[in-house]
Amino acid sequence: MSDQTEHAPSPPAGDAAAEPRPAPYPGQLQAPGTSADAGASFEPLLATADLPPGSMRRVTRGDLDVLLAHPPAGIVAVDDRCPHMAAPLSLGELDGCVVTCPLHAGRFDLCTGDPVRMPTTGGLDPDGVVHPTWTPPGREPKPDPPGVKTETRRLTRVRRFRYYPVRIVEGRIEVALPVG
Ligand code: FES
Repeated sequence: MSDQTEHAPSPPAGDAAAEPRPAPYPGQLQAPGTSADAGASFEPLLATADLPPGSMRRVTRGDLDVLLAHPPAGIVAVDDRCPHMAAPLSLGELDGCVVTCPLHAGRFDLCTGDPVRMPTTGGLDPDGVVHPTWTPPGREPKPDPPGVKTETRRLTRVRRFRYYPVRIVEGRIEVALPVG
């Protein structure tokens, strides 16, 4: 589903444990306003030493909350807002490339931008397929009586991540942020 246009260099073969590096991300999912043409410039957000492999950190600039994560593919920067209902993913759990949201247990792949498991509330996936409210295995599906809450769940669409370009400069993680 994702066009894996790579916007970051791959590490040399056999260099997996070497210096932190930006992860590749799908080019079509780059956050608006973060290209040099749009006037974006890189800002230092965190020391690489403060984001060891497997960790996540939230960094705030103005009203922008950025999630810095360090999965095996490298360092990524996206909004610290769940693609479902905006919960802070920095409070979730990172397993490989997949982050689990602390609010409704949706799982999202930081390396592809795609949902891996829909939230327990159900709803619309990015491609417009409706998923019912989650029910534990072996149980009867939860009834969803007609009404505004059911309709709200049905129309709540999970989005894909938007990525902020990352570079590493002298031990600092720098991220291209939109102007203004
Ligand atoms: S807010 Fe994250 S899964 Fe609902």
